[in-house]
Order: sequence, then C-alpha cells, then structure tokens
Amino acid sequence: MTRVGIIGGGGMGNVHARHYRAMPDVQLHFFERDPLKAKAFQATHGASASVSAEALIADCDVVDLCLPTDLHLEFGLKTISAGKALFMEKPLAKTLEEAAQVVNAAASAGVPLMPGQVVRFFPEFKEGNRLVACGHIGKPAAARTRRGGPAPLKGADNWFMDHRRSGGVLIDLAVHDFDWLRWTLGEVKTVYSCSVGAHTMAGPDYALTTLSFDSGAVAHVEATWMDPAGFRTSFEVCGSGGMIEFDSRSVATVRTATEGKVQSEGPVALSDDPYYNELRGFVEAVQKGTPPPVSGYDGLMALSIGLAAVESAQSGQVVAPARHF
Ligand SMILES: NC(=O)c1ccc[n+]([C@@H]2O[C@H](COP(=O)([O-])OP(=O)(O)OC[C@H]3O[C@@H](n4cnc5c(N)ncnc54)[C@H](O)[C@@H]3O)[C@@H](O)[C@H]2O)c1
Repeated sequence: MTRVGIIGGGGMGNVHARHYRAMPDVQLHFFERDPLKAKAFQATHGASASVSAEALIADCDVVDLCLPTDLHLEFGLKTISAGKALFMEKPLAKTLEEAAQVVNAAASAGVPLMPGQVVRFFPEFKEGNRLVACGHIGKPAAARTRRGGPAPLKGADNWFMDHRRSGGVLIDLAVHDFDWLRWTLGEVKTVYSCSVGAHTMAGPDYALTTLSFDSGAVAHVEATWMDPAGFRTSFEVCGSGGMIEFDSRSVATVRTATEGKVQSEGPVALSDDPYYNELRGFVEAVQKGTPPPVSGYDGLMALSIGLAAVESAQSGQVVAPARHF
C-alpha cells in the first residue's frame, strides 16, 4: 500500500483525491488548513485527516502539493528534506530561483519529483505530440495554441487574481502550452509577449505570446481569463507534410446540463482521464523506482519560458528563456 498525502483540499486537491480513490493500492491522507473545507473533503473522499502538514509528511510515502503557487517552495522543501516523493502542481514555483531550489534539492536528496504538467496526459495533446514525433506532418514549422475561460475566482482568498502569488495567466495557464510546445517542438530560443496582467499584476488577464524554437519553427500561444463562454483549449501544428488540429469545442463529447451549467464531460473512460493517468504514472514510478513521466527539469523549463514571457510583456523586448540553473 502506498500512502499518499494531499496538502491543500481546494479545487485541485479534490480533483486529485477523486483519482487516488480509484487506485486500490493507495491509502489517502490530507491536510487542509480551512476547517470547513477539511470537513467537506473528508466527507467526500473519506480520507484520513492529518493535524498538520508536517504530520502528513511524516506519515506518507508520497506528498501531493495542491497549494497556491506561492506556497510550493516552503512545503516542497519540507517534503524533500523528510525524504518523501513529491508531486507538485504546476507551476513548480513563482520564480526560477525557487523552482531550481526545489529541483536541485530533490536531485541531491534522491527524492522522486514530478510537476503537474497534465496537458501531456490529455489524449488529444498526447496524440498531437505523437503524430509530430513520428513525422506524420513532416518537419513542423508553425504551431498555435489557445487556452482559457473565465477568470478563476474561487481560489482561497482569491489568490489567482493576485499575480504576485499566481503569476497571472502566463505563469498559471499558458505554462501548460509552453510545456506541451517544448515537448513537441523542442527548445524555445526566444519569446515575445503582450499581456494585460504584466502591467496590472492583478485581476482577469489575457496574453498573446510568440515563440521561436531552436529548430526554426515558430508558435503563438493565446491564454485568457477573459472568456465568459467557458473553458476551451485548441491547438494546430503545421508542417512540411500536413497539419494537425484540435478544438475542444468542436469535438463530439458527452455534455451534461445541471442548474444552468452546461459541461462537456471529457474523457468517458477512466483509462482516458488525464489526471488519473498523470497521478498513476507518478505513483507507479515511485513504487518501481523508475524516473517519473515528467521531470523536474521539464517543470523548470516550462516556468522559464513563462517568466521570459512575463519579462517580455513588461519590457516590450524579445527575451531568451534561461536554460541553465
Ligand atoms: N493542473 C491543472 O489543471 C490545475 C488547475 C488548477 C490549479 N492548478 C494548480 O494547483 C495549485 C492549487 O490550485 P487550486 O485551484 O487547488 O487552489 P485553491 O485555492 O482552490 O486550493 C488551495 C487550497 O489550499 C489551502 N491552503 C492554503 N494554505 C494552506 C496551508 N498552509 N496548509 C494547508 N492548506 C492550505 C486553501 O485553504 C485551499 O483550500 C496551484 O499551483 C494551481 O496553479 C493546476
């Protein structure tokens, strides 16, 4: 039995708990500082409540951090210094220095670490990556991604809208696409970005970013917290031999309508669920002593591209993302 402990029982903590509960070889623990949320979490998931984050870390084999991004460093380092495997929601941290501290500490301690770059596990994005890698569209030349929906206003203390804590749309949301594009098209050479949040550092945000790659390919990434029509993702990759495209709004899927909310149910089989596959991949890597499916360095590089985009949006200059830490 693998003992997994979630710290932070908010939006993502609840998503993760649902999937760990489907794993018969996992015993679930959690720590949530808000008593009302902790009660609801326990009632929903039947997990064992720890009295503190430190007690949870001591009692578990794997710690899953689902805390606001500005708390990742503190609790990540506590987990690593206790010698426990660490799954960290994306982005790894607020700054490159903090993220590098976590990645280097995990490497020195020999502790498994995986960032929650879950887009690699979405079936359509995974297939897009595979098709590019196997040469289905020839040499990739240009890509476009779009991700977003309404502003996330339900975070504890409204932390997403304080960009000093969340990083705004470029760090919190576009980091998914920066990771997927780097995974699919290789290292990013330069970044140029325009964003609303880089100037306000608060509130709903929107950003347009252009990337150039070492390979000569180019891409643009649109990320928004200003789309009231619901969450949507899309991508397109054009190459010398064809094009691949995906739009979550035009894919046939099961939709439900409850209390005025219309929702696409996404993957219908457990085996298709990106969050299940991401977390299962990490638990099995820890159990078998094999490398996690996504490395700490991948999380660091996704953040590096995001921070280069923020710097570019603030300065109006083209910025080269840092690669060495
Ligand atoms: N991969 C994805 O698709 C995805 C989606 C949303 C958010 N995220 C990431 O997940 C992380 C968490 O986001 P969220 O949406 O769950 O935020 P949230 O605000 O809904 O949840 C955070 C929870 O942590 C609790 N908390 C705060 N400080 C604590 C402490 N010291 N000890 C214990 N609990 C504490 C809060 O009370 C809250 O319940 C962020 O890094 C975010 O960027 C990832």
